[in-house]
Amino acid sequence: MTLVLGIETSCDETAAALVDSDGQVLSSVVASQIHKHAPFGGVVPEIASREHLKAFVPVVSEVLQTLHGSGRTLNAIAVTNGPGLVGALLVGIQGARSLARGLGVPVLGVNHLDGHLLAAHLRVDDAPPPPEFPFIALLISGGHTALYRVDAPHQRALLGQTRDDAAGEAFDKAAKLLRLGYPGGPIIDRLAKTGNPDAHDFPRPMLHRKDHDFSFSGLKTAVSHAVKRGALDSCDPDDPRLADLAASFQAAVVEVLAKKAIAACIKEGVPRLVLGGGVAANRGLRTLCAELAQKKTITLTVPPISVCTDNAAMIAYAGALKFDKEGAEPFGVFSRDPGRVRGKFRDDGTHVPRR
Ligand code: KG4
Ligand code: ZN
Repeated sequence: MTLVLGIETSCDETAAALVDSDGQVLSSVVASQIHKHAPFGGVVPEIASREHLKAFVPVVSEVLQTLHGSGRTLNAIAVTNGPGLVGALLVGIQGARSLARGLGVPVLGVNHLDGHLLAAHLRVDDAPPPPEFPFIALLISGGHTALYRVDAPHQRALLGQTRDDAAGEAFDKAAKLLRLGYPGGPIIDRLAKTGNPDAHDFPRPMLHRKDHDFSFSGLKTAVSHAVKRGALDSCDPDDPRLADLAASFQAAVVEVLAKKAIAACIKEGVPRLVLGGGVAANRGLRTLCAELAQKKTITLTVPPISVCTDNAAMIAYAGALKFDKEGAEPFGVFSRDPGRVRGKFRDDGTHVPRR
């Protein structure tokens, strides 16, 4: 059984994990820097790199302690090589290469998205049965919003993606407009529970188009207009109408995501839908996806949130499968995946909210 140490530093989590090619997780540690970025309302790349430098050795050491006690042999190190923040990725890549040299094992690069798309196959507590291939994946985080058809590990076809803001970014920006704090998704989700989702008739962008693309930037503008029109008297944090705004905004985002994901399953003839990314934690989204999936006899898999958000277990597992199939060059040199150039801070599609 191949055992791989995974390392993930693409954004604002420094993570390491030991996972085998069966998806069994021996150890997984995630150190979040979110509190460092919160005052800026988004991830600041320079801060992210510095925090990765501080956290790298403690996080990796903690995971390696599990290896020492296990009597098992490490076969390779897998490290996220993109997409992500350039400086943040480099900390992980150089750290992984140094470690590999020291431990005398090969190192291989793993695409962050391939990691997310395999997270549902990790055998962690409370994990539902893993989905069979092929499946449709809705990957929704602060940086990504995309629908993929996944035919096999590391074999994905992009069906559609956001043309502007990612879904998580839209939650974060709407929360910022409402002065709710960062990250905004969990706060809006909580507030939405007590609000009226029909209080505001927000648009459902691109819902009725035949393609699988999304657009969320207009929704943020709609929230801003509602506030300007007097939906809130002031910025009173106890204004009960905040909950109505949150519920109406969430209902709009969730309806578009869920309906377009189900439409993709139907169009592709693949009756399996998997959610991934931080926004998969959203209660409204989970409920609507479950309801629509049941109606259309589609099997919905929502992995535990600990593996939906950024983690190194998914990178280690994706690395283990890649290593079994292709091997790795000793101390291999690999290039970072450049991704797409978009957004204010990142070099690719993993867009970070503006300050
Ligand atoms: O996957 P993730 O932890 O990190 C990356 O973006 O890579 O996702 C974070 C995003 C943030 O935008 C956050 O606001 C959003 O996921 N999020 C949520 C919820 N929990 C986290 N959005 C909606 N509802 C939630 N419950
Ligand atoms: Zn991610």
